[in-house]
Amino acid sequence: MKRSARAVAHPNIALAKYWGKLEGPGNFPAVPSLSVTLAGMRTETTVRFDPALTEDRLLLQGEPATPAAAARMTKLLDRVREEAGFATRAEVISRNDFPTASGLASSASGFAALALASVRAAGLAWDLPTISDLARRSSASAARSIFGGFVTLPAGEPGIDKLPAEPFLPADHWDLVVVVAVATEQAKDVGSTEGMLRTSKTSPLYEGWLKGAPAIYERVRQALLRRDLEALGAAVEQSALAMHGTAMGADPPVVYFRPVTLAALEAVRGLRRNGTLAYATMDAGPHVKVVTEASNLDVVAAAMKEVPGIERLIVARPGPGAEVLEEEG
Ligand code: DP6
Repeated sequence: MKRSARAVAHPNIALAKYWGKLEGPGNFPAVPSLSVTLAGMRTETTVRFDPALTEDRLLLQGEPATPAAAARMTKLLDRVREEAGFATRAEVISRNDFPTASGLASSASGFAALALASVRAAGLAWDLPTISDLARRSSASAARSIFGGFVTLPAGEPGIDKLPAEPFLPADHWDLVVVVAVATEQAKDVGSTEGMLRTSKTSPLYEGWLKGAPAIYERVRQALLRRDLEALGAAVEQSALAMHGTAMGADPPVVYFRPVTLAALEAVRGLRRNGTLAYATMDAGPHVKVVTEASNLDVVAAAMKEVPGIERLIVARPGPGAEVLEEEG
């Protein structure tokens, strides 16, 4: 058994959204999704298996993990221990270098880094698809952060037991940028796991989402291949708005939008009216992420800065997959 490993992973943003799971265990997504892994922001995680520990010691941003986060992390570590054939507890030290209030799902980079570091620390000779599958079981979007560039995650199918994400196109395929417009308002949101479960159980619109999502995903895929920003943007916005629409139809409703979200969406439409191709996507929070080509960055950034309620912008570009930084043992 290797004793410890340190890994890095980066957040990703879905251009075609995952929202909803197959019924039953395994955390299989009900729809296909496609994301871009982002450079410039990172989660670094060290896993050290230590025979002296009587339970896992889990530190996030220097603080003990909350009971809910700890339970999810221990579950992943238990899978690794079971495969490796030992019961040794681990110390996990994980840090994001991006503000957790940025609206960039830290669970994607977090579970990707944890999966890679713990597999390596345990001395398992797993390939990246197997590590991606492990990460997916904890958080489906994390499966995609194992790979760099543009990444797909197929929908699950009844009866399968493994579902990794797949690299689709390299980071340098297209000079896209994502401008993350971070909203000031920090109302506590419903987490994505709970939000999508409630949606699938109670939203009358969910059936329509399941039916429509694969075609939107296919349009995103084709537009990326052709580097067609207009077609990509239209599909990206439809994916996000259809996801939020089905969530808003839940009982009680799952509403991530705030006034600032609509103001930012209006600013993006204003950019287009003035001839700048820029498109918006939103995840389980009020923040708006604007997808555009790098040549439009200054114009887009200037417009988004003007939106009242936007606290700051983070500019992100397509980036690399998860990597091992150090192994000891
Ligand atoms: C809106 O991957 O966080 O960001 O599998 O329950 O952990 P779990 O959900 P999670 O959901 C991400 C939802 C999303 C869209 C996406 O990233 O595809």
